[in-house]
Amino acid sequence: MEDIELIREKNAPIAVFDSGLGGVSVLKEMIKIMPEEDMYYFGDSANAPYGTKSLEEVRSMTIKHVDDFIKMGCKGVVIACNTATSAAVRTLREMYPDLPIVGIEPAVKPAVEAYPKGNILVMATPMTIHQEKLKHLIDAYGGDANVIPLACPGLMDFVEVGNVNSPELKGFMRDLLYQYVGQLDAVVLGCTHYPFVKDAIIEVLGPEVEIFDGGYGTAKEIRRRLQVQNLLREKGTKKGEITFENSEKSPQKIELFQKLLKM
Ligand code: DGL
Repeated sequence: MEDIELIREKNAPIAVFDSGLGGVSVLKEMIKIMPEEDMYYFGDSANAPYGTKSLEEVRSMTIKHVDDFIKMGCKGVVIACNTATSAAVRTLREMYPDLPIVGIEPAVKPAVEAYPKGNILVMATPMTIHQEKLKHLIDAYGGDANVIPLACPGLMDFVEVGNVNSPELKGFMRDLLYQYVGQLDAVVLGCTHYPFVKDAIIEVLGPEVEIFDGGYGTAKEIRRRLQVQNLLREKGTKKGEITFENSEKSPQKIELFQKLLKM
């Protein structure tokens, strides 16, 4: 393994990574609580979706990207992708024990705290649903709740093309969720693309079902990790710059990134 040196510089950017555009839902939470930080968002749309690939493929792609972020001089990394987190975060922590690195994971804990005996649906990619990491999370925090994992292949693709409010999306959502109508207390969005189709989920399940996602918790955790290492910029200093890059080099991706960031 080549030796890559970590940067310890307050003014360096924080890298935010997803298989595509979904991680923008996490980036937004980060900007809200750390507006003075520079952020570098990288989406790997050319290789998306990750959720239907093999564990080894996702692990090696994620490690390669994180290596690149460190070489570029990023001071911390957020894996804003539940799928990449479940495949690679443990290995990355072993490789870079001093790097502030946070991986998003499904917000099972807060959902169970709110509905200790509730029926809670976890929507995520097939890989996240079938990984050990989710089983451990449910064993650790599921308590007396009935936690129901649901793989949603194909759902992220709607967001990747900016289709967040169309008859096709609504039809897809009805087919996916119809059997749960009237049965649930809460839904955990275990994929960072899904907050962008939250309205379509609510339309099928009804507004009484509470929706949880891990974006805010992840933003708070990277802030805490950077703080501990004294790597945060002073509050109230200049407004941070947001840079966007995608492995799929198309103007549409940049436009869509901006649209989702504003949503
Ligand atoms: N946004 C990703 C997640 O949070 C995965 C989407 C995909 O590439 O399948 O799991």
